[in-house]
Amino acid sequence: MCGIIGIVSITPFSVKGTLLKCLKRLEYRGYDSSGFVLVDGTASKAIGEISSIMSQVNDSLTSTTGIAHSRWATHGGVTDTNAHPHFNTSKTLFVVHNGILENFQDMKDKLVKKGYKFITQTDTEVIPHYFDDKLKQGNDITKAIQSFLKEAKGTFAILLMQKGSNILYAIKRDSPLVLGLAKDKFILASDIYAFSDETNKAIFFEDNEYAIITPDKYEFYDKNGKKTEKKIIEFEWTREDETKEHYKHYMIKEIKEQPQVSLRLINSFETIQNDKLNKLLELMKNTKRIVFIACGTSYHASLVGSILLNHLGIYTSCIIASEVESFIKFDKDTLCIAVSQSGETMDIVTEVKKAKQAGSKIASIVNVPYSTIQRMSDVSIEILAGQEVCVAATKSFTNQVIVMLELARRLGYKINLKHIPKKIQQTIAINEDKIKVISNELASKRDIFVLGKGMSYPMAREIALKFKEIDYIHAEGMMAGELKHGTIALIEEGVPVISLIPNNNEDMISASKEVEARGAHTIVISNIEGKGEIIVPKCDDAEFAIYAGIIGHLMSYYVGVVLGVSIDRPKNLAKCVSVR
Ligand code: F6R
Repeated sequence: MCGIIGIVSITPFSVKGTLLKCLKRLEYRGYDSSGFVLVDGTASKAIGEISSIMSQVNDSLTSTTGIAHSRWATHGGVTDTNAHPHFNTSKTLFVVHNGILENFQDMKDKLVKKGYKFITQTDTEVIPHYFDDKLKQGNDITKAIQSFLKEAKGTFAILLMQKGSNILYAIKRDSPLVLGLAKDKFILASDIYAFSDETNKAIFFEDNEYAIITPDKYEFYDKNGKKTEKKIIEFEWTREDETKEHYKHYMIKEIKEQPQVSLRLINSFETIQNDKLNKLLELMKNTKRIVFIACGTSYHASLVGSILLNHLGIYTSCIIASEVESFIKFDKDTLCIAVSQSGETMDIVTEVKKAKQAGSKIASIVNVPYSTIQRMSDVSIEILAGQEVCVAATKSFTNQVIVMLELARRLGYKINLKHIPKKIQQTIAINEDKIKVISNELASKRDIFVLGKGMSYPMAREIALKFKEIDYIHAEGMMAGELKHGTIALIEEGVPVISLIPNNNEDMISASKEVEARGAHTIVISNIEGKGEIIVPKCDDAEFAIYAGIIGHLMSYYVGVVLGVSIDRPKNLAKCVSVR
């Protein structure tokens, strides 16, 4: 996680209006603290969201070179001192870093023996001292970078700046880094979104590559110092209005955008994404084994896809990326389908790399174009959800499920996707007021259980995840059938149990009755008129998953409103989990 920005410009740029504006666009990557330093050594750090640091900066402050950082803490608590940028003792070398330096303790011990004093608990502080030491030994910076690439273990995107010099040094291994080519400046960033309002031209770093950026030119090198030729990519970004408009939070804005966002995706299936979908189907048909890998909410969408394809007789498995090695070994007969909103989740990136090395074909379903996972894929379907600002995934989740339905449709599943946007709109319009009332009651509860079966089981998990991450309420999403094998012991008078019951599913009705008999306060979500507290439009079980998910997202949102929590930026989270 963490977002990094570096700017080198021919003409002075506004620190607030450019450097911190770009940083703000990376805030979803971490918001424990932020900081910046300019080429003349002017620096500032603050705990909390980027708005805190913005309020400390004068509108008239400008610079020609500077680096900035938004932190998601890994090593060391959330303090001013641990906030980036970090520097050497004489404050002439400044560093921002995204990633984890795994052998930082070894490197630190060596530096401490040489007399270096450390003032933070971070792994990053090793870096400026390391470069200080190398320069004192008579190396130039490029030689020092090459040594660093040999010695350092772990993941990093690093920007290094020397006081008084309009040059940025950028080093990358595993953590994402991209150079934006704007009119009179170069912008280094963790992703293209940071500068997508400044330019659509970008160059992506490869692993173990470094670059030297001056106001009028850039040069890229491999780890041995050999110059590398780089391709300039002209990217397109699916833009939504990036303000909250009249909404109080991005979460509700993004939930309500779904009729348009899903329509854009469904239209793309017959047009711009048709060939890619056909290519993916070819890969699916010509492989012995299909494995979805994903994390969190994207895992839940993948699980819907996997269950649906299994129903069609196309056997697939779906594995949480951080546990892949517990379940399978990739080989050349396996198709790995990586599902990720950000396209940068490190648990997935790591497994995709392993799969590639083992000769597996890689497909991906991502939201962020040119993300690491997309660039490693043989074919990549985009979910076209546009920028999702709220840390919790909502519209991206719905569109991931729609891609699953489209894959199934092309493999023989009977479904008309064209109705979905309208039905999403109805789901929200018919139920929003009822959900507000229910959410008022749920807000005071300690535990919430969500039950599902078949394609609604992933939804039960998804809804429970949202109660946990947005509202900090303990919630369990489970297979209804498993309830009686233990968890039912927790059901007592007034415990809320949300039952997802599509098409009068008998097993689900029984499970719901069983908890009701023990005093649970059941809230049934159904698609049959008169059969539940919440009714979504008529549909089959697969489509029901979409509408039930939206209801769950709305419930967690309105519970959050009642509780007055930080809905768009829940504590301890970041949107892009780029560490393992
Ligand atoms: C939950 C949420 C996370 C992500 C997970 C994977 O609302 O957003 O659980 O789904 O961190 O992220 P991506 O999809 O970017 O790989």
